[in-house]
Amino acid sequence: MNSILKQDLEKIYADIKSESVKFKNSNIFITGCCGFLGYYFLHFFNRYKEDLGIKSIVVVDNFQVGKPHWLNEIVKDGKIELKEFDIIDGDLSKIQRDKSDSFVIHMASIASPVFYRKYPIKTLEANIWGLKRLLDDYKDTSLRGFLFFSSSEVYGDPTPENIPTPETYRGNVNTIGPRACYDESKRFGETICYEYAKEYNLPIMMARPFNNYGPGMKLGDKRVPADFAKAVINNQDIIILSDGKPTRTFCYISDAITGYLKVLLYGKFDVFNIGIAEPEISILELAKIYEKTAKKLFNYSGTVQYQKSDEKNYLADNPNRRCPVIDKAKSKLNYNPKVFVEEGVERFLQYINEEGLK
Ligand SMILES: NC(=O)c1ccc[n+]([C@@H]2O[C@H](COP(=O)([O-])OP(=O)(O)OC[C@H]3O[C@@H](n4cnc5c(N)ncnc54)[C@H](O)[C@@H]3O)[C@@H](O)[C@H]2O)c1
Repeated sequence: MNSILKQDLEKIYADIKSESVKFKNSNIFITGCCGFLGYYFLHFFNRYKEDLGIKSIVVVDNFQVGKPHWLNEIVKDGKIELKEFDIIDGDLSKIQRDKSDSFVIHMASIASPVFYRKYPIKTLEANIWGLKRLLDDYKDTSLRGFLFFSSSEVYGDPTPENIPTPETYRGNVNTIGPRACYDESKRFGETICYEYAKEYNLPIMMARPFNNYGPGMKLGDKRVPADFAKAVINNQDIIILSDGKPTRTFCYISDAITGYLKVLLYGKFDVFNIGIAEPEISILELAKIYEKTAKKLFNYSGTVQYQKSDEKNYLADNPNRRCPVIDKAKSKLNYNPKVFVEEGVERFLQYINEEGLK
């Protein structure tokens, strides 16, 4: 196993150890398992299934943006059952699984803006009807935890006084722009969760991820950390498709997954920002970190350049600043992200290099 991935999984396991007993004798069901976050979830559960005392793990994906190369490797030892399935209109009764004592993780929804703009209706359907169908399927079972992947995009472009952004901020979102299929369906998804939790007394939790990056991200995914990684690993210039000024905090995958598992195990309806609170850096600063790290690791000789995207809507409704308040997750979940962006970028690039990805 890749050494970076192995260390990350061990760290995640250590960080959730105290609450992990809740997984004992449970059945796990995951949708959208073949994406970036799915890569870590599947490797984590595959590695620790027995230690956690998990009875079964069934995972589904419709392979809408391709079938990743790592999938066959992970299912070959038979601990995880993978099925091709579309959560929007597939027949859930045909997916054989033990529905008792379940933890359900609903991730199906394309997360990369370039791809969700390409499939807007499918994106909103997975977040709305896919979610509703799944909740209907589990509402009369002994559900232990249901995790809906919402997004920090529910905040849209926050007003300056709402940055850093707490969970209580209600958002500033365009209902009819090119990002609306994603942002608004995540918002409506949260409302569905809220109503089902009340009506059926269900332990539904929602995570609002803030800009995760790291191993498992497809290099062709067209999110900025993947674009930059692809450029430096191929010794090409880093291309910035904006003016480089928008700012973000970047949360490394192992910190993020630790947070999601803690949210999943929380057990009561609630919503949590999951990300890292600092440093908030510009896209140009991120590009410089990639440049410097790649120079150190592989004698990279490219530079940072600016270009205009071929895609007309690339920057439409792009938030200027994105930075979370994570105090709620810190106090209620004991969530403490620790991997700052320089270290995370270095780990990501070392991982890619060790895997021989291009
Ligand atoms: N990664 C982040 O930084 C981030 C930020 C905010 C929100 N999220 C949310 O977290 C979840 C996972 O993110 P990710 O980065 O792994 O996304 P991803 O785009 O890498 O993966 C999503 C997966 O869902 C699958 N999928 C899409 N529609 C489906 C359908 N109808 N039926 C079955 N499978 C379907 C895709 O094939 C893909 O494998 C998503 O819901 C995303 O919106 C992620």
